[in-house]
Amino acid sequence: MPGLTVGDTIPNLEVETTHGKMKLHDYIGDSWVIIFSHPGDFTPVCTTELSKMAAYADEFAQRGVKLLGLSCDDVHSHKEWIKDIEAYTPGCKVTYPIIADPNREIIAKLNMVDPDEKDPSGKQVPSRALHIVGPDKKIKLSFLYPACTGRNVDEVVRVLDSLQKAAKHKVATPANWKPGDPVVISPSVSNAQAKEMFPQGYKTVDLPSKKDNYMRFTNV
Ligand code: BEZ
Repeated sequence: MPGLTVGDTIPNLEVETTHGKMKLHDYIGDSWVIIFSHPGDFTPVCTTELSKMAAYADEFAQRGVKLLGLSCDDVHSHKEWIKDIEAYTPGCKVTYPIIADPNREIIAKLNMVDPDEKDPSGKQVPSRALHIVGPDKKIKLSFLYPACTGRNVDEVVRVLDSLQKAAKHKVATPANWKPGDPVVISPSVSNAQAKEMFPQGYKTVDLPSKKDNYMRFTNV
């Protein structure tokens, strides 16, 4: 994905949303924010995705995360579409704003354009891009899915847990990690530092290379 990517500061764009005009940095404030784009209103996969994001509202709120959707239609269309999104998962409420981008200007600035997919008039559409932005307004993780593949909201929550844990402790999460599993101590931490930082101790895995500061698991 060329352009805006992990480590970059999200631009402070002024955007029109279903909750009125806002500047992205004002919306982020001191929170984590997930910005997620969709190819278009009233398309089947998009409707399921926005609905599932709404259904997970408590999971995101518990983690101090705000949501911000984006689709390339206007606010009036978004407001009509929300009725379908809420009906798809009975009981869910779309309390998060959805950016309107009928002229496809925001998707280009946020690096959310699908290189292949076009709408019936031949205009470019957004991919299913999703940026997780930290309280420092930097992108911590980006997903880029094609229009044909809906995202897995459980995976969005899982990577959020990993990012927030890594931000709090000097650790990383191994393959297939889920909350409660042991984490890996960063290789930049020496064994002496690890003993101080993780008084609960850590376990090493004996591998053929026998390298130091390598495969150390702890619980945080
Ligand atoms: C959808 O959201 O269902 C969709 C959008 C664009 C292309 C294909 C599917």
